[in-house]
Amino acid sequence: MTTTSDLFATGQADAAAAFELRPTDSPTPAAKRAEVLAALSFGTAFSDHMARISWSESTGWSDRRVEKYGPLLLDPASAVLHYGQEIFEGLKAYRHADGSVWTFRPQANAARFAASARRLALPELTEEDFLGAITALVRTDAAWVPTGEETSLYLRPFMFASEKYLGVRPTREAEFLVIASPVGPYFGGEVAPVSIWVAEDYHRAGAGGTGTAKCGGNYAASLLPQQEAYAKGCDQVCFLDASTNTIVEELGGMNVFVVHTDGSVSTPELTGSILEGVTRSSIIALLTDSGHRVAERKILLTELRAGIADGSIAEVFACGTAAVITPIGRLAGTDFNLTVADGGAGALTTRLRGELTDIQYGRAADRHGWLRRLV
Ligand code: COI
Repeated sequence: MTTTSDLFATGQADAAAAFELRPTDSPTPAAKRAEVLAALSFGTAFSDHMARISWSESTGWSDRRVEKYGPLLLDPASAVLHYGQEIFEGLKAYRHADGSVWTFRPQANAARFAASARRLALPELTEEDFLGAITALVRTDAAWVPTGEETSLYLRPFMFASEKYLGVRPTREAEFLVIASPVGPYFGGEVAPVSIWVAEDYHRAGAGGTGTAKCGGNYAASLLPQQEAYAKGCDQVCFLDASTNTIVEELGGMNVFVVHTDGSVSTPELTGSILEGVTRSSIIALLTDSGHRVAERKILLTELRAGIADGSIAEVFACGTAAVITPIGRLAGTDFNLTVADGGAGALTTRLRGELTDIQYGRAADRHGWLRRLV
């Protein structure tokens, strides 16, 4: 079972208190909110408020507030609109059976956000401000944390260059915001195996690029190949490395794992062009706990194809905050179309998903201390 709140012991309460509440003048009526929470999809509905901090080179971070959710007033010359100087994160708030609300490894997201900021030449936000912002927002909009199975309040922290300036140099003004979206499963409906299209003509990131940063540009680069994947009847695109076009890297917005019939598991190593997923590292820990050998290594597309074809690869799955753990049932490319054993209904994939979500929803012991109470 989850441990008691560590809010006050860690000073998190004070970090949230630094945010001034400027409540909306038009809160969503309870009946309307209930209607939204009863029919959730991914990323289409938003809570009543957003957390925000402004930054300028001369004054640093200031004006911590939680304010009405709504459109931003942006100068058309704002640097983000021209040069894409933007980063984001994704984490979730989970409602436990006793009504309390918890989040999962937010310090890891705060650290990755700071690393992304460095790579995109944006100002770094402290862990205290990152945690304070999500805590203040979730407390304000706690009624938006859904209670249904596999539902949560998806939190989207992001930062962008707001300076009105068309020269190409790092911004001197930025905005940090957190918005919140009550969500159901990323791929909709029940958890079911998805199909993957391997992009051979496009890459997500190259050596020395922004692949490890969680920045909008990486996702923008994935959209045309993603469209190609849809056109081929697939749900997601898989990228190969940019230098040899032979090594499996990651999906459009998720990391990937391969389960071998001997019980060992492989996942692409972090090469500098792959996103260091929080779910990815949690899965490695859970697998190691239960005695599985996990190799972070190069996985060649030829190896993946051969293993699925000859049955020595038993399961393949995708993972991420949004997708949690989603089985992959089919892998296709220009000259192959392979079905994973049992159509992707893998036993280890299902067990891992259960283990992870049991911790997140407070149904199992949080033995790694991954949860942090918000409400
Ligand atoms: C996440 O899993 O949180 C992501 O950021 C992936 C995608 C929704 C962009």
